[in-house]
Amino acid sequence: MLSQQTIDIIKSTVPVLEAKGTDITKHFYKRLFDHHPELLNIFNHANQAQGRQQTALANTLYAAAQYVDQLEVLVPAVTQISHKHRSLGVKKEHYPIVGHHLLASMEEVLGDSATEEIIGAWGEAYHVISQIFIDVEDGMYQHSEGQPGGWKGFKPFTIVRKVEESALITSFYLKPKEGMKLPAFSSGQYVTIQVKPEEDKYTSNRQYSLSDASGKDYLRISVKKEDKGKVSNYLHNHANIGDEISLSAPAGNFVLNTDSASPVVLLSGGVGITPLMSMFNDMAENNHTREVTFVHACKNEQVHAFKKDAIASIEAMPNATLKVKYEETEGLLTKEDLEGIITKDADFYICGPMLFMKAVISGLVELGVEEEKIHFEFFGPALSFDQV
Ligand code: HEM
Repeated sequence: MLSQQTIDIIKSTVPVLEAKGTDITKHFYKRLFDHHPELLNIFNHANQAQGRQQTALANTLYAAAQYVDQLEVLVPAVTQISHKHRSLGVKKEHYPIVGHHLLASMEEVLGDSATEEIIGAWGEAYHVISQIFIDVEDGMYQHSEGQPGGWKGFKPFTIVRKVEESALITSFYLKPKEGMKLPAFSSGQYVTIQVKPEEDKYTSNRQYSLSDASGKDYLRISVKKEDKGKVSNYLHNHANIGDEISLSAPAGNFVLNTDSASPVVLLSGGVGITPLMSMFNDMAENNHTREVTFVHACKNEQVHAFKKDAIASIEAMPNATLKVKYEETEGLLTKEDLEGIITKDADFYICGPMLFMKAVISGLVELGVEEEKIHFEFFGPALSFDQV
């Protein structure tokens, strides 16, 4: 446990971290990769270029500083980050490396204001915080390895089908190369895909939601082609049937609660449909009388993925409804739209771009939906502790 004195010192540095947090983490990443270029095989280079990961780490440190004497507050956020760490293969021996370069960066950026006392307190706090991550991740590694069909690290898969779901989204059906059985996963989870285009020095990793229900002899991801998306373009343009691709075991805690009988409202924007499609298929196959409202918002019909599949399943489900809104002709999803679909005691699962998520979540809260009924995931690094 941390001493009261250490906690007080950490708390007193919160204003400095607020002001300089991003400078420190930017400096830290440069320093880390100068000394350990091999870690570029793990980190998302696009997130680095956009400064998004810097912000995520800065915010986490800031939050950790605030809650350092109530570590239980950190647990839900740690769990989500640890799922991502586990799916990327972050190991316990990486933590001291990160800690060393982080503290050195604090000293270098803060200069004289980084007293020995402050650096000492942060060293102690980093040790405690990183141990929480290491323990949670250790449990996750044991779980993913221990369950039937589970595995550790990355395994080779073969692309067995490639299906265009819309003008922008293509599905890839992936079967394990070594003929192993696949583990059961919870609908809503994602996998990390690892690719290394020939011209690249380092591997690139990206998380993609599994878009079909568990229990098949394949895993399916559905990838949106992004304008400058390195991995999405590689997959769309160069990855073909018969090609090999590496995957880590399913991860993530944005999952459908299959123990509950409550009505479900699935709300997706654009490619955010992918994890919700997995949840929807899960209910269609395993609990087809559950009350489900599937709401999807996207630009227009050309980019509306899984349209036929969703309609076919809805028709076969006695208590399911589908509502689609095309932005170009009908505008964005409004509070009035939400009012029309709120079902008493329902659980809401939401996934989509940031602005969509903000509008939907605040709309639901204003309409009186309890926060614990609202479950969400957005893509990209979480930008603050409040969001994880
Ligand atoms: C992602 C915090 C240690 C590698 C993240 C995220 C946060 C975070 C907040 C974003 C999560 C999200 O996307 O939802 C921390 C904290 C650490 C720590 C507080 C120490 C206590 C490490 C270590 C490594 C690592 C030791 C490995 C060397 C990564 C990677 C990502 C990530 C690769 C994915 C984002 C990307 O690729 O840019 N971490 N982390 N982290 N972390 Fe950590």
